[in-house]
Amino acid sequence: MDSEYDLKRALKIDERCFMRTYRRLPVLFVRGFGTRLWDHEGREYVDFVSGLGACVAGHCHGEIIAAVARQSSQLIHVSNLYHTRPQGELAEMLVRSTFADRVFFCNSGTEANEAAIKLARKYMRQVRGEERYKVVSALRSFHGRTYGSLAATGQAEKAEPFRPLPEGFVHVPFNDAAALQEAVDEETCAVLLEPIQGEGGVHVAEPSYLKGARELCEERGALLILDEVQTGMGRTGALFAHQHYGILPDVMTVAKGLAGGLPLGAVLATEEVAGGFQPGDHGSTFGGNPVACAAALAVLTVLQEEQLVENAARVGGYFRDRLLDLKEEVPGIIEVRGMGLMLAVELEGMEAGKVVEECLERGYVVNNIGRSILRFLPPLTVSTREVDGLMEALREILRSPGGGTSEGEAAV
Ligand SMILES: Cc1ncc(COP(=O)(O)O)c(C=O)c1O
Repeated sequence: MDSEYDLKRALKIDERCFMRTYRRLPVLFVRGFGTRLWDHEGREYVDFVSGLGACVAGHCHGEIIAAVARQSSQLIHVSNLYHTRPQGELAEMLVRSTFADRVFFCNSGTEANEAAIKLARKYMRQVRGEERYKVVSALRSFHGRTYGSLAATGQAEKAEPFRPLPEGFVHVPFNDAAALQEAVDEETCAVLLEPIQGEGGVHVAEPSYLKGARELCEERGALLILDEVQTGMGRTGALFAHQHYGILPDVMTVAKGLAGGLPLGAVLATEEVAGGFQPGDHGSTFGGNPVACAAALAVLTVLQEEQLVENAARVGGYFRDRLLDLKEEVPGIIEVRGMGLMLAVELEGMEAGKVVEECLERGYVVNNIGRSILRFLPPLTVSTREVDGLMEALREILRSPGGGTSEGEAAV
């Protein structure tokens, strides 16, 4: 196909020109449609990663393409010094479909969490005084790579080389109500939690834990911030994961799926808490860019018209059951975790990275977290047949000696 830019050239440029932040798989994608991706040689793959959970409506959805084309032929960018229609309409739509009264737009998940932390501190300083500045978050959590979000992230190894971090961040074990009770005190401005810890390995919050966190925040006068960057936009089978738990946060952060693959993040908050921000307190040049917002409006329309949240619940349930079946059939799977189309399996005795490579060879794009977790974040359009196909590939890989264990043989 395209010999101008092939995998060899991509690998060479990667070696010579990029900072070494990513360990990329040796594949060059050139096209996507729905759940499918094609590489530079025209080879087709079924995508169970969807751009790390961003392409919720699938790749290159016609309505999103049309919205982006329409908007980019009219107005690409003006900044937040002015009003634009897509941003206004998106704000109205988000406010209408969530607990929130007000919204702030940024470009990514980490920026959304930065803004949420600043908002919580500023609001608390106004209503309770400046000694209320601490953020309690969970061990194994992931909130992003910029300093505030990194300080909130409960994975010491990610922050260690970059110390000193901003102060005022406390970490407690996830799903441990007693530890949370102990940590939240008169210095706490907010509790920041993911309903399902994504990057930490797909660990689902117990209903009693999230409910308890909500009550505790109420009782002690702290804010509950839910990071729905990965769980939001229908991924778990509800538009936002907190809806499964019957609780409402004071602040919620969203990104990834919000604009279906274009960079856009948002902080949503109640009227009361949003009052913490006054003109000049926070801002962004690109945040809420009209093209990204036009894409997000199309995403929300497509989710509704094609009932993709319902599909995430239905196919997600099927997917989970098939993974549980697989756990009984092949050696090496010790746990199946997740909800909707945010699923993972914990492996024992085999390298998750090796399984990812073997899946890729068989035309399936899946992701690993560290050495032992395989993660699945497909577009919400994925079908049960595509899940069956992946199961067949995984069955073959996990059964074969090269893929991990062979019968009766000790795992490495
Ligand atoms: C829960 C959560 N919060 C925040 C982030 C950071 O988002 P971004 O990579 O867009 O900065 C991620 C990314 O994986 C995430 O899963």
